[in-house]
Amino acid sequence: MPKRVAVIPGDGVGPEVIKVGVRCLEVASDELEFEWFDWGCERYEKTGAFLPADGLDVLARFDAIYMGAVGWPTVPDHLSLWGLLLPIRKRFELYANVRPVKLMQGVTSPLAGRSSVDIDMLFVRENTEGEYSGAGGFVHTGTAYELAVETPVFTRHAVERVARYAFDRAMERRKHLTSITKSNASRYAYVLWDQVVAQVGRDYPEVQVDRILVDAMAARMVTSPDRVDVAVGSNLFADILTDLGAAIQGGMGVAASANLNPRGEWPSMFEPVHGSAPDIAGRSLANPVGALSSAVLMLRHLQMEHAADSIATAVEETTAAGIKTRDIGGSSTTDEVADEVVRRLRR
Ligand code: NAI
Ligand code: MG
Repeated sequence: MPKRVAVIPGDGVGPEVIKVGVRCLEVASDELEFEWFDWGCERYEKTGAFLPADGLDVLARFDAIYMGAVGWPTVPDHLSLWGLLLPIRKRFELYANVRPVKLMQGVTSPLAGRSSVDIDMLFVRENTEGEYSGAGGFVHTGTAYELAVETPVFTRHAVERVARYAFDRAMERRKHLTSITKSNASRYAYVLWDQVVAQVGRDYPEVQVDRILVDAMAARMVTSPDRVDVAVGSNLFADILTDLGAAIQGGMGVAASANLNPRGEWPSMFEPVHGSAPDIAGRSLANPVGALSSAVLMLRHLQMEHAADSIATAVEETTAAGIKTRDIGGSSTTDEVADEVVRRLRR
């Protein structure tokens, strides 16, 4: 049975990098079937909706979702994010957002003297609630005393499942987990987080847990990235820290992510960490490596290890050979990188 992948290229550079990803996936495996969806800001501007009313029901029937990015300067970002990306994450309970921060061969980190031995972290971001719960509202709108309330929501259920996922990953790696909070200034939500992580940790006596405050974590990632292996944090904290992680691993263009429903009840979604990059869109400047590495994560989730390894190797060889886009110090176009990856895949 072929695996069915829903492809949502989205906006800006999304279609440019997703086209490369699907091209390489088709070369690496003949067990995938793709269906394309033109959902995103252009559709919203034409029809008033980012996706059709039954869009999520349609997606539910796929094995995986491969997505570019959503967002465009002519549409407010909170509309596009809440119109497409967040509904998918919440509806399908994609509760673990997994973001590897690994320095590849041929990519230079802005951290002086650091190599791929030092920079190899795995971030697990809570992806359904926390600071992005969506609870809130405006009061006194349009008056001088206008007020906005935005309420983070932390449930034992959601913290526990994402913590368990992170502990499982730690068991496969260096048996070390960094848990990120701000449970000194915040007295409730992150305190619950700490308690739940400690409780789940009792089931993993071999894993050493390091509790750290988010500000200290930002510094640690820069000064001693080698001290971080698996890290787990809330929706907001891990969102911010994985952009820092992306910078450390060479830039937004190379960072990959998986939005997982680890229980396999719903399709998981795979997307580069970057957005639609309006500043470079349409000029073949976009780095396809983040989208390709996200495709590798998708193949691993679908248990297609051989195809995953072949794309991962071809991408790493391509960057190591210096065939890379401008953002990571090369001079190749998106399509030149794609051609080289495909050439190596066909060998
Ligand atoms: P961005 O990630 O699109 O761009 C930040 C910087 O990274 C820009 O200088 C851009 O040129 C560069 N960059 C991004 N992807 C690149 C690539 N593949 N190759 C080379 N350089 C790359 O973030 P920004 O500018 O904050 O947001 C732009 C739009 O994307 C907004 O509408 C935002 O809401 C949306 N967005 C969507 C996301 C998603 O769909 N998951 C994630 C982040 C932003
Ligand atoms: Mg982000």
